[in-house]
Amino acid sequence: MADTAPNTAAAGQAPADVAHPRTIRSFVRRTGRVTTGQAKAFEELGPKFVLPYTGQPLDPQTAFGRPGKLILEIGFGMGEATAHIARVRPDDNFLCCEVHEPGVGALLKRIGEQDIHNIRILQHDAVEVIDFMLPEGMLDGVHIFFPDPWHKKKHNKRRLIQSPLVAKLASRLKQGGYIHCATDWEPYAEQMLEVLGAEAQLANTAEGYAPKPDYRPLTKFENRGLKLGHGVWDLVFVKR
Ligand SMILES: C[S@@+](CC[C@H](N)C(=O)[O-])C[C@H]1O[C@@H](n2cnc3c(N)ncnc32)[C@H](O)[C@@H]1O
Repeated sequence: MADTAPNTAAAGQAPADVAHPRTIRSFVRRTGRVTTGQAKAFEELGPKFVLPYTGQPLDPQTAFGRPGKLILEIGFGMGEATAHIARVRPDDNFLCCEVHEPGVGALLKRIGEQDIHNIRILQHDAVEVIDFMLPEGMLDGVHIFFPDPWHKKKHNKRRLIQSPLVAKLASRLKQGGYIHCATDWEPYAEQMLEVLGAEAQLANTAEGYAPKPDYRPLTKFENRGLKLGHGVWDLVFVKR
């Protein structure tokens, strides 16, 4: 019998096994130089600390080799805050997503220099990681620090913190698990407050913005901004 199935890719449609084709992403792939030190860290530490994107449910015990609370971080940049938090919370396990290769190299370098054991990196779009690798009720926490603000109105649709993603993140949290966001861009802070506040699965831990939790360090970038008189807003919501 002749194969009469339509060629969906050619027809510009999603294949049947892709529920929701994503065309708008919260990042653009930047090329960036990986330094010699980062390349060395990739080679030596990559096999242990970088997990492959499998599109299959993650087994945290296998990934970390131990039990522990599981915290997802989306977009760690160069990993300064990530490494600090992993050190001050040694009993927790941090699954950290970043698409920017030099950032992954930089965090691997910190992992080596600071002898950190409780981080695993996924160099992949966090939204796909959430969709395909994180079953419901798996996470104890989510960190999203200084996500790209996408200042121009026409780019606002790229912002990470929007209702569909927040609903998805809330579903991946255990009861009592938390979402902690921080931003230095006031209009984005307002959007975060509105979107997180409108999610029925979540409750705000503060009246509006939260005090900065102790584990989140003031990074160099943030300190510079604060000295220039810029604000920073933290938001901490928990799953009901
Ligand atoms: C402005 S940087 C902030 C980095 C870091 N959190 C900090 O506080 O310095 C935002 C980062 O999020 C990453 N990012 C954005 N969307 C992402 C996604 N869907 N999955 C993984 N990383 C993402 C970008 O590559 C970028 O490095």
